[in-house]
Amino acid sequence: MRKKIVAGNWKMNKTSTSAVTELASAIVQAELPESVTVVLHPPALWLERVAAIIKERINLGAQNVHPKVEGAFTGEISATMLKAAGVSYCIVGHSERRQYFAESDAFVATKIADLLAVGITPIVCCGESLTIRENNTYLAFVEEQIKACLMGFTATELAKIVIAYEPIWAIGTGKTATPQQAQEMHAHIRLILEHLAGKDIAAQVPLLYGGSCKPDNAKELFALPDVDGGLIGGAALQASDFVQLIHSF
Ligand code: PGA
Repeated sequence: MRKKIVAGNWKMNKTSTSAVTELASAIVQAELPESVTVVLHPPALWLERVAAIIKERINLGAQNVHPKVEGAFTGEISATMLKAAGVSYCIVGHSERRQYFAESDAFVATKIADLLAVGITPIVCCGESLTIRENNTYLAFVEEQIKACLMGFTATELAKIVIAYEPIWAIGTGKTATPQQAQEMHAHIRLILEHLAGKDIAAQVPLLYGGSCKPDNAKELFALPDVDGGLIGGAALQASDFVQLIHSF
């Protein structure tokens, strides 16, 4: 059975310790189904504060990592440091990092390697722009992205990752992929994994959907055969919405 995962990507939101404490406390106090793995990805500055609030029930996630252990990399944080702060999941290859920080697939691959080396689960993001969607080349585009990020890993390593499909045109726009669009891409991603790691491992890698996933559309997305949960942005900033999403399976 594949893991069901709901991960909240807070991005660069929640600007005070009181806002952070309020959100994390409300989520940890809610009744949450045992069957769902919940992950919170606060800004790096708030990782230890959130860790102290959520304890073991909820997993701590990071939004970014630098693929070197230590050294002269001003402003960066390594996988070893994240591990020491209690992090167990880390987002890599998010379209905002690709767009605003020029992160390439090759760079994403080095981050994945570093995370796996310390035992943190990478949540590897992929997804096409609106132009690519409209050109009808989205399947080939995402395939190339995934292969470029994952080609160098063994099947055993690939068994330890999570993939998030986040069409860029749906992120923060209020436009969600239709269930048909999401299922088509998720099935395609599973097929790519099958080629890279074999049928058994492809069948066990959780595939998350991200992009304007909200309480009112999560149920039909999470019910799809190849959608195993969500990577949630905007709706992760309100405890009530986020908790509702966790209950959407
Ligand atoms: P959104 O963001 O839910 O606000 O669209 C998702 C994400 O970027 O992870």
